[in-house]
Amino acid sequence: MRDFRQPWGNVNGQILLLPEGLASLYPMRGTAGWAMARRLATVFGGSGFIGRYIVQRLARRGWLVRVAIRRPDEALFLKPMGDVGQITPVAANIRHERSVSAAVAGAEAVINLVGILYERGPQRFDAVHAEGPRRLARAAKIAGVDRFLHVSALGADPASPAAYGRSKAAGETQVLDQFPTATILRPSIVFGPEDDFFNRFAKMAQILPALPLIGDGRTRFQPVYVGDVADAAMAALENPGTQGRTYELAGPKAYTFKGLMEILLAQIGRRRLLLPIPMPLARLQAGLLGLLPQPPLTLDQLRLLERDNVPSGQFAGLKELGIEPEGLEAILPSYLERFRPGGRFARA
Ligand SMILES: NC(=O)c1ccc[n+]([C@@H]2O[C@H](COP(=O)([O-])OP(=O)(O)OC[C@H]3O[C@@H](n4cnc5c(N)ncnc54)[C@H](OP(=O)(O)O)[C@@H]3O)[C@@H](O)[C@H]2O)c1
Repeated sequence: MRDFRQPWGNVNGQILLLPEGLASLYPMRGTAGWAMARRLATVFGGSGFIGRYIVQRLARRGWLVRVAIRRPDEALFLKPMGDVGQITPVAANIRHERSVSAAVAGAEAVINLVGILYERGPQRFDAVHAEGPRRLARAAKIAGVDRFLHVSALGADPASPAAYGRSKAAGETQVLDQFPTATILRPSIVFGPEDDFFNRFAKMAQILPALPLIGDGRTRFQPVYVGDVADAAMAALENPGTQGRTYELAGPKAYTFKGLMEILLAQIGRRRLLLPIPMPLARLQAGLLGLLPQPPLTLDQLRLLERDNVPSGQFAGLKELGIEPEGLEAILPSYLERFRPGGRFARA
């Protein structure tokens, strides 16, 4: 059923909906002024690592951006990326029907970036990666949204040994069921200033004499720059030829996990032992670490690490979206310098 209410304004992070006629009879200053003049994109998970780059690009292209997350107060840092009133964080939870419908009302485009790496409380893989995207895609269809982009992951596979990978695969199917013209983006590990991967291992190298190599460190990855992922989202949004297609997003080169650790250590100018951790021991460690409130490693992530994370070659990639991917070595120095002995100015 079509929702005839229109987003009229924003009160303390909550979207105010008015019947269509009323909303246009009483045009609101500021935000609503924008809404009438500009195209609106709702970005679920827009305050996250990848989301902020997409929000910034949308704003630069003149979109009005509604950032839908659970804690809008923690997303206020996004507002200066646009003009006054152009970017609005709103409270929405992909697990809650009504907040999802309210967040997509009036939008021309919806981008879904909600994802988790481990389960806590009600944030279960199936609820966040599969049922949530289904709810969102369905609400977007009902609201008459034109473009839907869904960010999945390279490990999405119904036969994945990891619940993360299986739930990501289920999410893709659910989205396409509800919104057949949706575009699916599957990034490999994403790197950039706020990444969780290189920053985490660089921090570990600052304090530990050795870095762990899970199961020999032979698993292969093809890390992709966050700016390229955001550019891919923009290209997909602007090119109708991408509708209903899946893209695998990877950088220019594949590396083993061990190779990545060697590059990292060279970048931060530190020599550390690379210590192979046999799988049974890694499982024991992951089992214990998985009990922490914010676990650095879980058993499910370990299962993901057992499989190569490189493009299958069955889908188009960055090239088909007109993007020349940035290499790891070109970008890492811009944000890992602070981990060098003596910090950023050590060489000055
Ligand atoms: N980073 C990578 O290397 C990588 C690689 C492959 C695929 N991906 C996928 O790309 C997407 C974005 O990744 P990311 O690294 O940017 O993630 P992230 O930094 O963890 O951001 C996740 C975002 O989702 C929001 N969120 C979480 N649960 C929510 C819920 N129930 N309802 C509404 N919003 C919720 C978070 O905000 P609140 O907590 O405030 O709600 C946050 O804005 C994810 O789907 C991820 O699986 C990432």
